[in-house]
Amino acid sequence: MKVEIVTHRDGAESAVEYEYRPRHEGERPMALDVLLQAQATALPDLAFRYGCRARNCGVCTIDVNGRPRIACRARVRDGDRITPMATLPVLGDLVVRRDGIARQLRGRLPAGEAGNDLNVAAPDDYHALTACIECYACLHGCPMHARNFAGGLPADMPAGEPPPDPAAGYPWGNPFSLLKLQRLRLDPLTTAAGRDAALAHAVDLGLDACVGCPGCKCGVGIDLKGKVIAELLAAAGDRLAKR
Ligand code: SF4
Ligand code: SF4
Ligand code: FES
Repeated sequence: MKVEIVTHRDGAESAVEYEYRPRHEGERPMALDVLLQAQATALPDLAFRYGCRARNCGVCTIDVNGRPRIACRARVRDGDRITPMATLPVLGDLVVRRDGIARQLRGRLPAGEAGNDLNVAAPDDYHALTACIECYACLHGCPMHARNFAGGLPADMPAGEPPPDPAAGYPWGNPFSLLKLQRLRLDPLTTAAGRDAALAHAVDLGLDACVGCPGCKCGVGIDLKGKVIAELLAAAGDRLAKR
């Protein structure tokens, strides 16, 4: 089985065809199996991330045929093309900068405003949102996230255009950031002021982009459209128009 692995070094892209050697008859390997074998054999300095190998940590996300996939859980087939996530800047090979997303929420999660009654039960939707593994697959196709980059994606930015600094956190949001804010709103330990602040942050991050958007897709099956976007839009009401 041959796959194409697209790597990035010093700003240059190159594609390598790698022939995977099945470990047993009929094996259908995950993308991560292919990358690990390639690194152990033909491409010893191939850079990629993984952690748990069990769809828990979310750091192994790559694109397969242009769609984000969690590498430790995505089976690959002959002819597949493995590339770094198109939605974030590439550091090297298949490794992307993830910090711009996490930093976006710095100062937006109201520390110290929550109460301290740990006996209050959280609603079911809160628990549904805790399933997020921070894989960032949901950035794919998000017009709000695309506002961060001239041209729509880091890979499509015009030459010479300065990219936003991930170290400062991206100015425009994405499904993951909205999920975190909605989870905060559902958290029984969050005060009314904290809930209001979380909604204001969602609006500030560009919630208006969600109006009429067909919705986002989660890598692990969280109902982002129903449990995050629809809830935030309903709560924001005419705040969107006033933005
Ligand atoms: S619904 Fe909102 S968060 Fe989801 S993809 Fe569309 S713009 Fe992005
Ligand atoms: S919401 Fe889903 S796709 Fe987005 S980061 Fe969390 S687990 Fe990944
Ligand atoms: S290695 Fe942790 S989710 Fe894939």
